Amino acid sequence: MTHYVLNRSFNTSVKRTERVLEIAEAFGLGLSDTQFVVYDNLELEVNAGDVVYITGQSGSGKSLALKDLAAQMEAGGLDIADLNQVELDPDLPAIDQIGATMTEATDLLSKAGISDAYIYLRRPHELSDGQRYRLKLAKVMNSTADVWVADEFGAVLDRVTAKAVAFSMQKVARRMGKIFMVATTHTDLVEELAPSLTIIKRFREKVELQHGA
Ligand SMILES: Nc1ncnc2c1ncn2[C@@H]1O[C@H](COP(=O)(O)OP(=O)(O)O)[C@@H](O)[C@H]1O
Ligand SMILES: [Mg+2]
Repeated sequence: MTHYVLNRSFNTSVKRTERVLEIAEAFGLGLSDTQFVVYDNLELEVNAGDVVYITGQSGSGKSLALKDLAAQMEAGGLDIADLNQVELDPDLPAIDQIGATMTEATDLLSKAGISDAYIYLRRPHELSDGQRYRLKLAKVMNSTADVWVADEFGAVLDRVTAKAVAFSMQKVARRMGKIFMVATTHTDLVEELAPSLTIIKRFREKVELQHGA
């Protein structure tokens, strides 16, 4: 059982430019420094094979939670694969980007929602954002990391594809004993991800936790 604690706050100090002072006066805003708290001792339990689903409005603190959790996991000795850091080889067709064998490559691509021979043959710059995104997901699944992190999960995919990919990735993650953490404003992935832990981030430091599978 591995325990994590999230704490995060920012100083609200603003740079006092002429326009800032004008806005402050017009809207009656005080400019004295205060603490803006995003996470106040939020205690979480995350273990191998867990799926963590972080939702909430833009600016609520999803990315911060993901980043802080991943950093704590890394400090605890786990390897992190961050979807946003995945690099593709610009010269290689999709089918050559992953897997030790052809079968492994097509299998990984299919789990990432790509099963079209035409796409297999295309190099990264010849793919759409969504196709490139799925290729990166396949690369994450192909990594030896213990933790898969996907901020803005599925943002460039249509919802049907996002759901299909969410379902197959959580299955692979669980079977391989990985930790799979996604953050997105979309709340429609509950059934597909069957999250072990759902973090619903609300205003300020407010947060709701739901424990599942
Ligand atoms: N370096 C920083 N300084 C001050 N405020 C920050 C900083 N980074 C993030 N924030 C604030 O923390 C809140 C949460 O940010 P973030 O986790 O990126 O939101 P989300 O991913 O849910 O859109 C936002 O309101 C943002 O303005
Ligand atoms: Mg974010």
